[in-house]
Amino acid sequence: MPHFPSLPGPIGVFDSGYGGLTILRDIREALPGYDYIYLGDNARAPYGTRSFEIVYEFTRQAVVRLFEMGCHLVILACNTASAKALRSIQMNDLPQMDPTRRVLGVIRPTAESIGSVTQTRHVGVLATAGTIKSESYPLEIRKLFPDITVHGQACPMWVPLVENDEAHGPGADYFVRKYIGELLRKDGRIDTAILGCTHYPLLLEKIRRYMPPQVHIVTQGELVAGSLKDYLRRHPEMDARCTRGGTCRYLTTEAEEKFSESASVFLNSAVEVQRILLD
Ligand code: DGL
Repeated sequence: MPHFPSLPGPIGVFDSGYGGLTILRDIREALPGYDYIYLGDNARAPYGTRSFEIVYEFTRQAVVRLFEMGCHLVILACNTASAKALRSIQMNDLPQMDPTRRVLGVIRPTAESIGSVTQTRHVGVLATAGTIKSESYPLEIRKLFPDITVHGQACPMWVPLVENDEAHGPGADYFVRKYIGELLRKDGRIDTAILGCTHYPLLLEKIRRYMPPQVHIVTQGELVAGSLKDYLRRHPEMDARCTRGGTCRYLTTEAEEKFSESASVFLNSAVEVQRILLD
């Protein structure tokens, strides 16, 4: 069994790249007093088109590294990692690695919120190909609300548009319209659309423009932040293992300059970042 530092530590926030920064921003707004480490596996992103085995292996490596750095609690701020790796890590790895540490995802808190939002009980999910293929959203939503019909739409071009700083360009209009059209053609009764990828809030302006006005658009940041706040309140033993200094460290597996430059698109400010290798 590996030995991780037992002293209290920061909360770990992991994403394949930059998308998790949209979640981190809302988490820090809701819980500003805690310390955080953000880890983006930018060198190996995107995860959205990778196999289950690879996403699981990469995510596991990141979680182990965050535990080694003192985190007791890690949030997978990535739908693809939550869909493909979370369950195996929770069920198979944590009991062996350290049963007191916790890894939480972003799909469950999003699914929980849906029941009170949809009137027609027809919900759409816009996400990466990997998340859609995993069926995690329909499975999770049906468990909680069996009367809700869920249709998924993969949007493989949205993450590259955001990562290449093209979210506000004309190319984005074409692809935003295309995937929204494809989703609504599958089910015209959809009144709620989940943005099931942490990159998509960067396309929100255009998504709002092309989504019919009666469709409620659900973003995840506030939901995940609220759910974490609730989790820490219900688990005082974990809360006591999270340090409070109001700091945030940024780590990336890519070049530091590249991360700082792109992260500023997500955070509207420059950040200092350190490169690490995962294996
Ligand atoms: N941020 C990831 C998610 O929420 C998508 C990016 C990727 O494909 O790596 O699914």
